Amino acid sequence: MKKIQVSPSILSADFSKLGEDIKRLEQSGADMIHVDVMDGHFVPNLTIGPPVIKSLRGHTKLPFDVHLMIDPVNKYIKDYSDAGADIITFHPEATEDTSNTIKLIRSFNKKVGISLNPNTEVALAEEHLDKVDLILIMSVYPGFGGQKFIDEVISKIKKLDQIRKEKKLTFKIEIDGGINFETSKIAINAGVDILVSGTTVFKENNGDLKKNIETLKQM
Ligand code: DX5
Ligand code: ZN
Repeated sequence: MKKIQVSPSILSADFSKLGEDIKRLEQSGADMIHVDVMDGHFVPNLTIGPPVIKSLRGHTKLPFDVHLMIDPVNKYIKDYSDAGADIITFHPEATEDTSNTIKLIRSFNKKVGISLNPNTEVALAEEHLDKVDLILIMSVYPGFGGQKFIDEVISKIKKLDQIRKEKKLTFKIEIDGGINFETSKIAINAGVDILVSGTTVFKENNGDLKKNIETLKQM
């Protein structure tokens, strides 16, 4: 049976004590830390810059799963790499040349992810699937936590999982947005390996992080 991983989004953490919250996530069974970086231009919200990631780096050994919602993205990849990102995921709409951005991220020895918005087709990532570590399927339009899961993205997960099997590829499928204890199961059944979750991890069961992470991992 495959092992499901959970990448809690710190967008739903308490920003006045992020270091503490990250430590608690590690102690509660999180597999990585999802950092949502928004630029107020590619998405209508502003969040976390490189200095914040740098100051959090010492608080956990878990990988930082950095989701860049920045356009143009290339300009900031070095800064987020230097700050301590382990996985860098970008949106193909935010670069003129997807292959070039993949190479740039690799040049800093980081894992690479491509993120697909709800209305972005798998075709946009297809030729790059053998060169990335993960595909991040957005199940909400990026910008804010706490939105409702868009069911239509399930077909894209199935398609990616099918291509992965046919071509014997090893990229992971990660999903981001509106993941709760029901949608997690639908996503896992369709082929997802990594669940991003902000609201469910931090708010369900009176914020019992361990219980929420364990429940999300149940298939
Ligand atoms: C949306 C962000 C998501 C979001 C997930 O732009 O990329 O990571 O924080 O939050 P929930 O789990 O609350 O939908
Ligand atoms: Zn995200």
